[in-house]
Amino acid sequence: MPIKISKHIQTKAPTLFPDADQASVYAAQQIAELIHQKQREGNQVTLGLATGNTPKKVYQELIRLHKNEGLSFQNVITFNLDEYYPIGPDNDQSYTYFMRHNLFDHIDIQQENIYIPQTNSTPQEVAKYCQAYEDKIAEYGGLDLQLLGIGRNGHIGFNEPGSSFESTTRLVNLHPLTREDAIAQFGTIDKVPHQAISIGIHTIMQAKRILLLALGERKSEIMNKALSGEISVDIPASILQTMSQVEYILDQEAAVLIQEEDRV
Ligand code: GLP
Repeated sequence: MPIKISKHIQTKAPTLFPDADQASVYAAQQIAELIHQKQREGNQVTLGLATGNTPKKVYQELIRLHKNEGLSFQNVITFNLDEYYPIGPDNDQSYTYFMRHNLFDHIDIQQENIYIPQTNSTPQEVAKYCQAYEDKIAEYGGLDLQLLGIGRNGHIGFNEPGSSFESTTRLVNLHPLTREDAIAQFGTIDKVPHQAISIGIHTIMQAKRILLLALGERKSEIMNKALSGEISVDIPASILQTMSQVEYILDQEAAVLIQEEDRV
């Protein structure tokens, strides 16, 4: 039975940009400023990172800031949200490959500071592996900032509709719409994995800051529901309405259905 929580809170207005480039540059600036701030304090910074098309331009801008403006990632620890199960790290559809190609190979992050769920555990070992991933995040004092995209069914990470708001890192079954959307990368539906390891909704909610980035018209319907609809496990991202540390960063196309009163 899905949990329904009636809405009594005022959702934060999204930060809107005319296009995807400007929204992505803004998100990258937020991340870069946090890295700089932690460097000034002599501290490490723990970032939760996402995959998919949405964050690609954010990563491009971070690479540009590294190459042209001296942004260093020496004090950065990263934890990726999720990974298909099973998949090898050298498979070019794996998120490990994605992250290397789109970010890590182009910046000065220390290899030992990169954490991405590895999906070589047997089904018997996987729960233990997931707990160890969760423990590692806690060891670093939790996530300072979590970057999120959103699936067309409202998933965050691979926390599909029905995921408990109390969930932590675990093995999940992928929703049919998620698998359908992944055909673009895998080629055919039979090549798309049925499962993934994903950090949980509870893990995400513990992050000190959360940036949810949504770009393009195909995210407009789900963003409208996630921002203004009922808070329900049916739309996992809807729980973020209750969290003051969340910033929604949208381009004009993703915001097209957002009601006037929810705009800045
Ligand atoms: C995948 C990822 C999510 C991501 C979502 C949206 O399922 N696991 O973390 O937010 O897809 O992908 P895209 O940004 O390509 O629309």
